[in-house]
Amino acid sequence: MSGATPERVPLPGEANRGRAVQAMFDRIAPSYDLLNRVMTFRVDQRWRRRLIGALALRDGERLLDLCAGTMDVAAEARRRAPGLAVVGADFSREMLARGAAKTGLPAAQADALALPFASGRFDAATVAFGVRNLERLDQGLSELARVLRPGGRLGVLEFFRPESQGSRFVHGAYNRLALPVLGRVLSPDPEAYRYLVASMERFASRPEFEEACRKAGFREVRGATLFPGVCGLVTAVRA
Ligand SMILES: C[S@@+](CC[C@H](N)C(=O)[O-])C[C@H]1O[C@@H](n2cnc3c(N)ncnc32)[C@H](O)[C@@H]1O
Repeated sequence: MSGATPERVPLPGEANRGRAVQAMFDRIAPSYDLLNRVMTFRVDQRWRRRLIGALALRDGERLLDLCAGTMDVAAEARRRAPGLAVVGADFSREMLARGAAKTGLPAAQADALALPFASGRFDAATVAFGVRNLERLDQGLSELARVLRPGGRLGVLEFFRPESQGSRFVHGAYNRLALPVLGRVLSPDPEAYRYLVASMERFASRPEFEEACRKAGFREVRGATLFPGVCGLVTAVRA
């Protein structure tokens, strides 16, 4: 890690985010898995299992794990269905290199907004904690719809913006009390920690995200709260 102060990473809704987001994930890749486990009190892996369980993946199917990062979702999918063909895609080389080394699964460096895959290639797609980072959410969802076959399933885990007063309270308490302490102790990159908190507060709520999925060509859009005010799961079927 260099001593230089990293540039401010633009938030959801702000322009020119792609390169700054990519650079931030390249920087934090070495500590990403540890930060994830500690900041979620190890519940993150349970959330990923819920995501994979919801998609009912079968041997012989093709799964795209988009914004795959260090590929924990891809690995969990493969554990559940050993005959599944899984590819992890991400635009951060550093995250993906760690994921590929850790899981031994195929990985493709790719931008979610312009995927290098043929239309209808996949039976299912997952995005865990990735959609919040996209410069254009509508374009990312359209790309996911394009690469899924009709009837293909999408599963998204995300820290959606909380809507109810109760969820906002839980979210605010965690962000302002627990995360600053954990972030300071564990993260070598204060900008990444600031971005994490601020981007959660600026991103779509779960109902807003569900509507964006419908607009992008998904049906049977269903949402569930995995942790009130913190983490949600949305599943949908490509029309
Ligand atoms: C918070 S990490 C999540 C990683 C992993 N899915 C997990 O469950 O831990 C978000 C990932 O999304 C990737 N990402 C963000 N925007 C992207 C884009 N436009 N195209 C491809 N990957 C992107 C980042 O590089 C990062 O690895």
